[in-house]
Amino acid sequence: MANLSLPKDFLWGYATASYQIEGSTNIDGRGDSIWDVFCQQPGKIADGSSGVVACDSYRQYKQDVALLKLLGAKAYRFSISWSRVIPHGGRSDEVNQLGLQYYVNLVDELLSNGIAPMVTLFHWDLPQKLYERYGGFLNKDEFVADYVRFAKVMFEALGSKVKYWITFNEPWCSSILGHSSGVFAPGRSSDRERSSEGDSSTEPWIVGHHILIAHGAAVKLYREEFKPRHGGIIGITLNGDWTLPFDADSKDDLEACQRKLEFSIAWYADPIYHGEYPASMRSQLGSRLPSFSPEEKALVHGSNDFYGMNTYCANYIRHRSTPATADDYSGNVDILLSNKAHQPVGPITQSPWLQPYPPGFRKLMKWISGRYGRPPIYVTENGTSIKGENDLSREEILKDDFRAEYFRGHVNALAEAVSLDGVDCKAYMAWSLLDNFEWAEGYETRFGVTYVDYQGGQKRYPKESAKVVAQLFNSLCQ
Ligand code: BGC
Repeated sequence: MANLSLPKDFLWGYATASYQIEGSTNIDGRGDSIWDVFCQQPGKIADGSSGVVACDSYRQYKQDVALLKLLGAKAYRFSISWSRVIPHGGRSDEVNQLGLQYYVNLVDELLSNGIAPMVTLFHWDLPQKLYERYGGFLNKDEFVADYVRFAKVMFEALGSKVKYWITFNEPWCSSILGHSSGVFAPGRSSDRERSSEGDSSTEPWIVGHHILIAHGAAVKLYREEFKPRHGGIIGITLNGDWTLPFDADSKDDLEACQRKLEFSIAWYADPIYHGEYPASMRSQLGSRLPSFSPEEKALVHGSNDFYGMNTYCANYIRHRSTPATADDYSGNVDILLSNKAHQPVGPITQSPWLQPYPPGFRKLMKWISGRYGRPPIYVTENGTSIKGENDLSREEILKDDFRAEYFRGHVNALAEAVSLDGVDCKAYMAWSLLDNFEWAEGYETRFGVTYVDYQGGQKRYPKESAKVVAQLFNSLCQ
């Protein structure tokens, strides 16, 4: 890494999410979220588990902060469980002071240890009551008003202490995985074999639209009432992975790569940075893609102080010549793990969708930077699972060379993007601080730089990769 460096004040640290780590789902007045209910449905979670205990962070948050300090982290990204703070979720519903106090305590503990809190308001765990009352994300007026009130409660409680705010984590997942494929809560899908409900030809696009408007409305509130006093910044976190042509010589496949990036990233980022949905989506989806009223457009356009970037891997993309089906959500492409010459995109991991490809990280940062006018980029998630990790002994798990190598490759690619491509990246949060509840994959898949002994009181043991992450940033940031 001879000529590579990062600014001295570069913010690096780790990320988690409320439902994946907190546990204590029935304690101190917390209400159910859609994930509590989804986990109870047979067959939804690979190992039949849930976040009822998870890493017990609700009770062991001081250990988490001590761990962050030990690892040398400058920042910690965590999310708020909306139904812990407002158990029924709505704007006329009561605030649960005990639940709110948990986050105040966590932030105070971080600050007294010199660690900057980065708060994600929403990481998928919608209050179940809001889903029952009006369909959750599907009801624009109710959802936006309830979300903005929730955001206001959090800005009031933490605004003077927290300088980094993220409105939504990966709205693509709430839209597509929650309302099209149905593999995430609330599990809506038109796939009859799953015998669930919903219309996947329209619902995901409606959900995405409403999330964008809720994001814009919360940003407006923050900028008008809190930013002038506290000077923090606010943005949304989007997911998307780099795309490579299945056939490097095919113009169609190259175009398909762009389309796929547009259907994942530009779906949200174009309205925010350019004021409208990408042309490829408008032409494929027609009137199924909602449109913004002038007031909504004004709310959404220009609503990011920074670009929150989550990325894990890359995929080969092949153009499809048949017309797009009504429930296609990827731009009418095949998403593949090897190319025409049968070369895999990267080594296999425990997650079927994740094959690491570090050069893609640099290329994707450059793509985002180019398309959106060089916004400050905050990498809010990047990390890997390891094939078979959960079957190993604790001693073996702690020597996670594969994950350490992943971070070497990706942090190096980030430093190249900053030093050589002029990308303005200001932060990197590795996913994840802890092994935790990996959504539909349960506890079989570990993503942590810290081993969590689920059978042994959720005790934390840092893995080798945690040391490597610290070494990388300590040597690059000068
Ligand atoms: C999510 C995390 C998740 C990670 C690994 C991201 O999409 O934000 O909650 O654990 O990927 O699958």
